[in-house]
Amino acid sequence: MKCSVLIFVLCTGIPASVGNVKLPCTEDMFHSNTNAYWACAAQFALQSNWFPSPIAGLFSYQIWNGFDGFWQNGAVLEPFVNFMVYANHTRYNTVVQKSQRSLYQLLEAYGPYPSFDDMGWYGLSYARIYEVQGGDDFLDSAVDIFNWAWETGWDKSNKCNGGFFFDNLQNAKQTITNVELFQLGAKLYRLRKDSTILEKVQQIHKYIFSNEIVDMKTHLVVDGIFMDNCSSNGVYGPSYNGGVFIGGLVEYYKVTEDIYYLELAKQIAEAIIETKSNNSQILTEYCDPNCNEDAMMFKGIFVRNLRYLMDALPSNDTATRNSYQKCLDTNVIAILELNMCNLNPISKCNITFQDGPPYYNVSGPVFSPNWNGPFTFGAPMQQTSAFDLFVSSIYPGTTCVGDLCSYDPSYPAPQPLTCGSHPCPKGEECCEYSPYTSYTCCAKGQKCTKQGICV
Ligand SMILES: *[C@@H]1O[C@H](CO)[C@@H](O)[C@H](O)[C@H]1NC(C)=O
Ligand SMILES: *[C@@H]1O[C@H](CO)[C@@H](O)[C@H](O)[C@H]1NC(C)=O
Ligand SMILES: *[C@@H]1O[C@H](CO)[C@@H](O)[C@H](O)[C@H]1NC(C)=O
Ligand SMILES: *[C@@H]1O[C@H](CO)[C@@H](O)[C@H](O)[C@H]1NC(C)=O
Ligand SMILES: *[C@@H]1O[C@H](CO)[C@@H](O)[C@H](O)[C@H]1NC(C)=O
Ligand SMILES: *[C@@H]1O[C@H](CO)[C@@H](O)[C@H](O)[C@H]1NC(C)=O
Repeated sequence: MKCSVLIFVLCTGIPASVGNVKLPCTEDMFHSNTNAYWACAAQFALQSNWFPSPIAGLFSYQIWNGFDGFWQNGAVLEPFVNFMVYANHTRYNTVVQKSQRSLYQLLEAYGPYPSFDDMGWYGLSYARIYEVQGGDDFLDSAVDIFNWAWETGWDKSNKCNGGFFFDNLQNAKQTITNVELFQLGAKLYRLRKDSTILEKVQQIHKYIFSNEIVDMKTHLVVDGIFMDNCSSNGVYGPSYNGGVFIGGLVEYYKVTEDIYYLELAKQIAEAIIETKSNNSQILTEYCDPNCNEDAMMFKGIFVRNLRYLMDALPSNDTATRNSYQKCLDTNVIAILELNMCNLNPISKCNITFQDGPPYYNVSGPVFSPNWNGPFTFGAPMQQTSAFDLFVSSIYPGTTCVGDLCSYDPSYPAPQPLTCGSHPCPKGEECCEYSPYTSYTCCAKGQKCTKQGICV
């Protein structure tokens, strides 16, 4: 029987097991809040299938079974903590706690020249972990990442009022870097009250508001600027630019208490919901259904930040909050109906790996990149987007009861490896770089230069 979208959840009920695996998640533990249940199930499948990699090493906190994962591994930590906050539990707390790395260790894991946006995701997640759980190491690393990006990546010539370059090549200024570090800096100022951070945040603010980053007619956020004339480059594709800026405006509102920034965040949110879903309200990335491994994460990052806006709205603005909740619920129902694979046995779903079989038994439910469906294949990037969506849609006041609220399986610690350990998948050249004694696996078809860079 084919269920209509609206009665889908009633029609299938909530399974206590998925495929042939008994889930450590039940509907009861969240007092029948189904969005929290699906977040739990999606997170369990994410961890069972892709964490840690059979070749876990590289000082990275996790490697997703060969999937391009450095920035994504930073970005996925934030919904882990958000899930704890929104559903009041401590599941996978060890993964969160063990993710702490110093600036040096991160540079070593993704040397020799990580782009500033890639490092920014760790900054945002670490600041969020500190905000929720405390832990000075997390806050220190987040501050170090922010200051390192400022020292290494900010345009000190002051052309276009500065701005962060994309990477060491200094030939592009992408919006994502600037909105990430805007959000991070404002949050760090709120958490640490260090006025030198606030001065930098105000310069980033000036850069953003003087370079046509937001189109004030459509409220869409542009992907980057022309560096020679300081104007919008006209590319309005990726949804995470607006998403991360919404989160940045929420933080800046908390610092300044100026309602203008919250109103602007609402306008940007509504512009994205309208243009990215054509009234159906099912969010669609500009590149769906053929997004690359970066873009498969974007919609999740947008809804994550939409939730931060919902959390910051004044309590009398229930109309706005309800309309965003409805949008999230619509997308939840859509991906359950159109975009999920949950067969018995789960091995019948097309779940993909690059470094061989996972450490744990394969589990579901798994989701593919396009929230409009149909299901095509499971991989960790799109699973994280689905997880972000479920987490962001959990109703306020949800709590967890029972032993499963502290479910926290152990994982083997990652090993420091070298190219001598032959860690790279078939067809990918191993590339050692200095000044760190570490390596990276080049993409298929790339070669390693003497400087330790894949080209
Ligand atoms: C759960 O909620 C209680 C009551 O608000 C709070 O004291 C506790 O810290 C919360 N636990 C988690 C893990 O969020
Ligand atoms: C800025 O320069 C780009 C090319 O570098 C050009 O296409 C664009 O029209 C210019 N914009 C303005 C506002 O001058
Ligand atoms: C919305 O509709 C327009 C016009 O048909 C189309 O070009 C665009 O790709 C659609 N966008 C989405 C997100 O489906
Ligand atoms: C909420 O309350 C504030 C302060 O009293 C008021 O300025 C604002 O217009 C109210 N907003 C709504 C949506 O009612
Ligand atoms: C994997 O599944 C097999 C067969 O169902 C079971 O015996 C085994 O304990 C499971 N392994 C883990 C790590 O859960
Ligand atoms: C499984 O997904 C991969 C990655 O998209 C694809 O190349 C492959 O054709 C799919 N296999 C099946 C049986 O659909």
